[in-house]
Amino acid sequence: MKKETINLLIEEAKKARKLAYAPYSKFKVGAALLAKSGKIYTGCNVENASYGATVCAERIAVFKAVSEGERKFEAIAVYVETENLAFPCALCRQVMYEFSPDMKIISANKNRYEVRTLNELF
Ligand code: THU
Repeated sequence: MKKETINLLIEEAKKARKLAYAPYSKFKVGAALLAKSGKIYTGCNVENASYGATVCAERIAVFKAVSEGERKFEAIAVYVETENLAFPCALCRQVMYEFSPDMKIISANKNRYEVRTLNELF
């Protein structure tokens, strides 16, 4: 992937993180998903008092995209502000695998990023 694309996705994920609703875990996550169409869909985690109703940033971005007609994805950036990077949970991996098993996962914080394919994470 081009460095500019990676940096753009990280920037968008960072902006999306600001909208996270995470009063329970206090762990805010932002995601930016690049569809094959070229469009970028963002997401943030939205928590709920009923923990099972919480949705991760990644799934919000994927569901936004799919609900607007997208089916194939290039990459998703996941941005956190902790020292440890975040990687998509099992549910998010499953949801992404449904559409694009070869998509890239970019895990980032303000100091660094790592790129893997979804297949590698499985
Ligand atoms: N979370 C995400 O949104 N994405 C990840 O990749 C890791 C975890 C959220 C879910 C929950 O709101 C909080 O982070 C703590 O797990």
